[in-house]
Amino acid sequence: MTTQQAQEHYEIGMIGLGVMGRNLALNMADHGFSVAGYDKDPGKVTALRQESGERAVRAFDTIKEFALAHRNPKTTILLVPAGSAVDSVIDEMIPHLDKGDLIVDAGNSNFRDTDLRIRKLAEKGIHFLGVGVSGGEQGARHGPSIMPGGAQEAYERVRLVFEAISAKVNEEPCVTWLGPGSAGHYVKMVHNGIEYAVMQLIAETYDLMKRGIGLNNEEIHNVFETWNSGELSGYLMEITCRIFSRKDGRTGKRLIDEILGVASQKGTGMWTSQSAMELQVPVPAIDLAVSMRDLSMFADERRHAESMYSRPTLHFPGDRDASIAKLRSALFTGMIIAYAQGMALLRVASHKYDYSLDLEAVARLWRGGCIIRAALLYDICEAFHLRRDLPNLLLDPEIARKVIENQEELRRVVCMAADAGLPAAALMSTLGYLDAYRSAWLPANLTQAQRDYFGSHTYKRIDAEGSFHTNWEEG
Ligand code: 6PG
Repeated sequence: MTTQQAQEHYEIGMIGLGVMGRNLALNMADHGFSVAGYDKDPGKVTALRQESGERAVRAFDTIKEFALAHRNPKTTILLVPAGSAVDSVIDEMIPHLDKGDLIVDAGNSNFRDTDLRIRKLAEKGIHFLGVGVSGGEQGARHGPSIMPGGAQEAYERVRLVFEAISAKVNEEPCVTWLGPGSAGHYVKMVHNGIEYAVMQLIAETYDLMKRGIGLNNEEIHNVFETWNSGELSGYLMEITCRIFSRKDGRTGKRLIDEILGVASQKGTGMWTSQSAMELQVPVPAIDLAVSMRDLSMFADERRHAESMYSRPTLHFPGDRDASIAKLRSALFTGMIIAYAQGMALLRVASHKYDYSLDLEAVARLWRGGCIIRAALLYDICEAFHLRRDLPNLLLDPEIARKVIENQEELRRVVCMAADAGLPAAALMSTLGYLDAYRSAWLPANLTQAQRDYFGSHTYKRIDAEGSFHTNWEEG
């Protein structure tokens, strides 16, 4: 092989040169890995050519040239939109692949699709990894959090690349092999579910500051800035604080006030809720976050309803700083509960799908690079370090101490929001979850009795084993 040819045999192939693909390719090249890129959109190919400079990155116009430029065995990373686009790219690539080659899907694919693809490609002797990548554009370029799943031997082939490009916390890479099959994509899905919940909790807190206390954007910015320096700190808090100081280029006003109150989604939050329902693990903070985005889309109906239903015009009572302090504690408690629900779901899914997840390792790699990175994750790591099979974070003594310290403020905030007629559904749901979870007695005895009454579904008793039925119309 001539030197020229050797240079042309790139270590990594990247298909999908959108913002994430291009930035990951540049990140890999900066860490000494040569990358061949391909996208069916010529504009994206050109963009990578312009951005790559002198780096060992080359963008190709056709999939054939791209495949020929690959070093064998080939490692092809896909960064294309989840769904049918992934299958189309795989089908296009298959004729250029041999037994032993590896495809890595680094998009936000549904975990069930990942399991199907692993099986389909295994029949051809091709390895397939489902890898969650979090951190957006900046993360992809300078260090994302990476959640790999699939065969561990296949992961070994990309381990050094991922360790090099990932975010680092105390020099530890924010990546580790998580488990077989779709473990990586499942963990990324739950990451996004938690992301939805925390975003919704922050949004409700913003509303309560704005319409409940009457703070202006500058004051709200200052509150978030203060919160971001304490136990509430994290990436979402940091960007929220920055958002409130941003001026609009068009109007010169604060940009936040020029943005419509309508939020869409690509589906990962909804998938988390769907999976949780199937596995019968309650994650109401995530469910509510998905529902509130959905409700926001009904803008015309909401306008109509606002004209029909008046809301009490009560502001929050008492001292303004005291109300802000209550909101801080309420948000912190809500956040703990949102992470607790996500981790509880991962635990059950791990058993159900044989992922054998190490939840401490999951929390560890979420400490840097990803969207839900937050100071709280250090406590979560510690909780799973002390008890690997902890069923729910709320049962960890240190987490419980923080919840106990702050829960009354969550209760006060929920009452104040209800009195003022301000929507705080996710905050309310976290309080409802906490109150139900810490209640040894629940009125589900009545639910059992009703089911048995109308459908002879039987019930369980407190004083004897087995199933019982009563003829309720008799006697
Ligand atoms: C991340 C983000 C990323 C993406 C979400 C947005 O971890 O980097 O979660 O994956 O921004 O998919 O999801 P929605 O469009 O559904 O809000």
